Amino acid sequence: MANLMTFLLSLPLFFFFLTVPPPATCSTNQTDQLSLLAIKSSLQDPQRALTSWNQSLPFCSWRGVQCRGDRVVALTLSALGLVGSLSPHIGNLSLLTNITLRDNSFQGPIPPQITLLTRLQLLDLRNNSFTGEIPKNISNCPDLVQLDFTMNLLSGAIPNELGFLPKLEVIGFSRNRFSGLIPSSIGNLTTLQRLSLGSCRLSGEIPDSLGRLRRLSFLQLSENGFTGSIPHGLFNISTIKYFDVSVNSLEGVIPSTIGVTLPNIAVLLLERNLFSGPIPSSISNASLIEWIVLSSNNFTGPVPNLERLTLIQDFFLHSNLIEDDMSFISSLTNSTKLERFDVSENMLSGSLPESLANLSVLVNMFDIHKNQIHGSIPSGIGNLVNLDVVDLSHNLLDGLIPMSMSKLSNMHNLFMGRNRFGGELPSLFGNMTLLSRIQLDGNELSGNVPSSLGSFSSLLELDLSENKFTGSIPQEIMRLSSLSIVLNLSHNALEGSIPSEVGSLRNLAALDLSSNRLSGVIPTSLSSCVSLQRLYLDENLLQGEIPAVMSSLMGLQELDLSRNNLSGSIPSFLENLKLQKLNLSFNRLQGEVPSRGVFTNVSSVSLDGNQGFCGGIGELKFPACKGAESSKGKLSTLWKILIPILVFGGLCIVVLVFLKCKKTEEKPRPVVSSDDTIGVQLLRLSYADLLKATNGFSESNVVGFGRFGSVYEAVLDDEKAIVAAVKVLNLDVRGASKTFMAECRALGGIRHRNLVKLVSVCDSVDFKGNDFKALVYEFKANGSLDKWLHNSNEDFKSLSIIQRLNIALDIAHGIKYLHFGSASSIIHGDLKPSNILLDHDMVACVGDFGLAKIASNVLPSLYESNASSFGIKGTLGYVPPEYGAFGSISMQGDVYSFGIILLEMFTNKRPTNDLFGGEVNLHRYVSSALPNGLMEIIDPELEMGGLKMEFIGSILNIGVSCSKENPRDRMPITLVENELADILAQLQPFSLDV
Ligand SMILES: *[C@@H]1O[C@H](CO)[C@@H](O)[C@H](O)[C@H]1NC(C)=O
Ligand SMILES: *[C@@H]1O[C@H](CO)[C@@H](O)[C@H](O)[C@H]1NC(C)=O
Repeated sequence: MANLMTFLLSLPLFFFFLTVPPPATCSTNQTDQLSLLAIKSSLQDPQRALTSWNQSLPFCSWRGVQCRGDRVVALTLSALGLVGSLSPHIGNLSLLTNITLRDNSFQGPIPPQITLLTRLQLLDLRNNSFTGEIPKNISNCPDLVQLDFTMNLLSGAIPNELGFLPKLEVIGFSRNRFSGLIPSSIGNLTTLQRLSLGSCRLSGEIPDSLGRLRRLSFLQLSENGFTGSIPHGLFNISTIKYFDVSVNSLEGVIPSTIGVTLPNIAVLLLERNLFSGPIPSSISNASLIEWIVLSSNNFTGPVPNLERLTLIQDFFLHSNLIEDDMSFISSLTNSTKLERFDVSENMLSGSLPESLANLSVLVNMFDIHKNQIHGSIPSGIGNLVNLDVVDLSHNLLDGLIPMSMSKLSNMHNLFMGRNRFGGELPSLFGNMTLLSRIQLDGNELSGNVPSSLGSFSSLLELDLSENKFTGSIPQEIMRLSSLSIVLNLSHNALEGSIPSEVGSLRNLAALDLSSNRLSGVIPTSLSSCVSLQRLYLDENLLQGEIPAVMSSLMGLQELDLSRNNLSGSIPSFLENLKLQKLNLSFNRLQGEVPSRGVFTNVSSVSLDGNQGFCGGIGELKFPACKGAESSKGKLSTLWKILIPILVFGGLCIVVLVFLKCKKTEEKPRPVVSSDDTIGVQLLRLSYADLLKATNGFSESNVVGFGRFGSVYEAVLDDEKAIVAAVKVLNLDVRGASKTFMAECRALGGIRHRNLVKLVSVCDSVDFKGNDFKALVYEFKANGSLDKWLHNSNEDFKSLSIIQRLNIALDIAHGIKYLHFGSASSIIHGDLKPSNILLDHDMVACVGDFGLAKIASNVLPSLYESNASSFGIKGTLGYVPPEYGAFGSISMQGDVYSFGIILLEMFTNKRPTNDLFGGEVNLHRYVSSALPNGLMEIIDPELEMGGLKMEFIGSILNIGVSCSKENPRDRMPITLVENELADILAQLQPFSLDV
């Protein structure tokens, strides 16, 4: 009863609220709500991050919205996968102070309405794709403290108005596409602490006014086109800790006093400029310094005293004109944090002091190549157990290589070529089991090639050329399937035959056994070395015929078999290879010279000094072949059989095509552009076909969004119910057409169980006459790995350890196939969990080849890739650090992304997790927990089922090795594949209870 009474009493009150016009302030909080909805409506939200943004919830509790009272004061939408433009309605959120949109895919301009937000303090748009200019009226926001536009596509000049923001502390503009000069008004910002203008395409001189920034601690002007000298005032800002002007065209002498005037300096990066004069001697007072990088300048004179630089970690002087003897190394023995030491390519002389042994045990890189250093290597080098890269090449070092080096079990890259080292290589490599590259070429080493090298399963490169090695080639070395860069044993005195184990070198790009005394025949197993691009067997005593099975070496570009005793005729497969150089001279070959392929280019072929060739193209000036008629006769009988078959087949095709065309004429089939440029023959579909297959591109068929467009589920053929995924490219997005081409090229020719198959492309126009491009893939029923890892939805059960491991192995198979499986290597460029698709049996396939690149040549691409880059951005968290610096993609880059995916799969942490930032990233997070802290970091959903933690440890170790910062240190994908397979094999017995 009482309840009823209160209900009745409250009724009028209820009506009161309904009918009374809202109070005046209400209209503003309504504006806020409407503005937020407008912002949402201009975005695609593939991760459904903004589902809370609906009218049933008060807007102050929407994700990322922070209110004071009932008004929005902060909007924080970082790393939510948002795609689209930033609505100008943002300008109506009039009390907004903080906007953080970092790590999304916002496109289009920064709306000028943002300058209506007069209370704005923080504007963080880092890592998006904003274009256009910085709004000039930015000075309308006088409270701005932080402006971070790092990693966008902003252009135009940096507005002078920026200098009128009296509270500005942070300018983060690095990695954009501005033009022009640094406005000198920036010198007015007396509160400025961070100025970061790296990779901004700026030029001109650095304004003197910057010397007035009395609070500056972080200065980054690297990778621009700055000229002139550094204003002296900058060297007097005593608060500076980080000073980076590297990669510009700056010149002049660095003031001798900087060690005194910059007492807080921790990082000094001057590399790749035109600085000259001596290295300032006062640097010896900069006792807080951690990194000194002066490489690639014209610095002269000696190395200053380094005794007091006890915190130094990196010391880089390479490629200068420094003259000194190596005794300065003694002054670094107090520097207990030293990790990297590189004084290569200078004019250093003298010998390595014994005090080398007292350098910090943390030293992992020691590089003195290309100097004039003589004497022997002090045996104390064995104390530096963390050494990982040692480059002593191109010096005058001699004596025996000290046995103590065998203790250096962390060594990956050992470069000692072009010296005068002598003696034998007994068990030198002892514990260096991680070695991936060994260069000992051009020394005076003798004795046998150590067969112990055969146990170094990470070896990518072995160069022992130009020494005095004798004996035969150990089979063990030929079994090193990890070898992928080069195996060079040339210019020695090796004897015996080429071991048939050579067939294990399936990943090898270059094999050089020339100038030895090798005898016997060319082993037919060589045909298994399918990655070979260069093969040199010249100047040996090889005999017999050139094996016809070598026709499998489809990637071969250079082949030198000259100066042997080879006999028989030139096998015809040679004209089918894409050879650029072929040398068969000075053998005992004879018979008909082919006249296609490389044989059409006289300058690419050497055939001199053989017994009797005939035929070939005219310029070769060989007589016509006598037996020509008889061979033609044979051919003609073949033709007699073939021609009728071909004619009949041809007729059938014509009829079929005719029928097909007639049938399709009735449909409004738009013109399909020729795909010469794509070079792929695929089932062609029209716009109308796809419109039908996707229910008119209906929203309910959408299965995902990519950066360049949407993906729809499509039923291609109602009867057969061929289900496919159709990616429709949004051609308004910059780069979308390029992606289309890249994907067609990359995927058109390849077929592999672990790569998503492209079934069709549609390059056409829609009914309105607009260009329409779409890619049609096999449909993968289980969607992306990303969903399985991160979706809390019931449909996605947690994956078991075995499932995860199988998926990882599938991905590794896919990547290896891309890199090495076909004649040209394909680099994916954008590997991440959302690009890994799972079919109904949970077999993983690598998909989305939008950033893929075909590397024309494996060798340079292994480390640098072809220099041309087309604005590769990849995906934050998965792109390797070096892409930022060089902008070109590489196999090692793919390996990095794979490593991150692997770590993500077993920790269930995205690399963009809030835990990470600054120094901490997923790689370090995991590596610091290895081997004993795993419980803390692994995915809590993982069912261990009695399994030992060390299994997870070994999986994570692979992920860590793949995601190392230095591309050279990353594990080769072939090895990754082997190790994952090993772990899986050990786990299989457990599979029932896991
Ligand atoms: C808007 O303001 C009015 C009056 O202050 C308040 O009653 C209402 O709940 C507010 N709306 C929201 C969505 O906060
Ligand atoms: C806005 O950002 C500033 C600077 O980072 C910070 O101090 C302040 O607390 C933030 N305010 C809000 C409302 O988040």
